[in-house]
Amino acid sequence: MFKIVEKRKLAENIYEMKVAAERVARAALPGQFVIVRVNEGGERVPLTIADYDVEAGTVTIVTQTIGLSTRKICALEVGDSLADFAGPLGRPSEFVHMPVEELRKMKYLFVAGGVGTAPVYPQVKWLKEHGVECDVIIGAKSSNMLIYIDEMSKVGNVHIATDDGTQGYKGLVTGLMTELVEGEGRKYDECVAIGPMIMMKFITLTTKPWGLKTTVSLNALMVDGTGMCGACRVSVGGKTLFTCVDGPEFDGHQVDFDEAIRRQSMYRNQERTAKENYEHNCKCYGE
Ligand code: NAD
Ligand code: FES
Repeated sequence: MFKIVEKRKLAENIYEMKVAAERVARAALPGQFVIVRVNEGGERVPLTIADYDVEAGTVTIVTQTIGLSTRKICALEVGDSLADFAGPLGRPSEFVHMPVEELRKMKYLFVAGGVGTAPVYPQVKWLKEHGVECDVIIGAKSSNMLIYIDEMSKVGNVHIATDDGTQGYKGLVTGLMTELVEGEGRKYDECVAIGPMIMMKFITLTTKPWGLKTTVSLNALMVDGTGMCGACRVSVGGKTLFTCVDGPEFDGHQVDFDEAIRRQSMYRNQERTAKENYEHNCKCYGE
């Protein structure tokens, strides 16, 4: 069992939890994820790693209540435990393998959308620790949905965009990217985008004419997380790859986003029914 040692609310329906998972904390690298289960027989939920502390033996996860399982995770309190906490899974970000001298010449632009800001944080933090200062765009629908602004500002140069203009640039992250690159003439060697699929799709369409290498982190549906079941398959450069073992990061210009978006919404009706049944049982039996 994996005990929750800290919990805080970051925004409406978004919670951060520190989980005691010493072995995962020791092995984790930026870009990787974990698969958690609330209880035996529960659904396996892939979650990106938002931070890890080797000394404390903790791993930080950020969860948004989207479906039934994420709702059950968010309902846990300090002292409660998760039945499973498998990881770290997936390949670490490409830059962790680069020679430091080469890395220090790189100019990175990170684009974090909504809850996708959480997995961007360990990447920018790792780069800062290795002498690389990055520009980071954080986008959200409104100022009250922005997360990790203080944490990210300590490790990167933060630029904020909100859809409704309540904080920072008014509009989508792609608008702010265009302002930085075309308006201010900033030059980058690589863009890393993490957030909703639709955001990552439009970011790749924006960076393509600039010839800017763009890495995306896909949050495909997953079951086993070991490359056996095929649930997380995506088409990249015409090849079928598995997000859990070949990713989660891929060359964004090679990803078939329309297929990935279709596959992601495949079980939406079943998910809605399960959530409604759970809410009904909670009301009737006080579960
Ligand atoms: P959101 O819908 O508020 O979007 C965040 C930002 O994305 C917006 O502010 C906007 O600037 C940008 N965006 C949205 N649509 C766009 C478009 N068509 N073109 C350009 N930019 C666009 O974000 P949210 O509600 O926090 O999203 C949650 C989603 O993020 C969930 O579906 C979740 O699964 C996903 N997510 C992905 C990852 C990952 O690893 N890729 C990690 C965590 C969460
Ligand atoms: Fe089963 Fe990736 S989750 S192959």
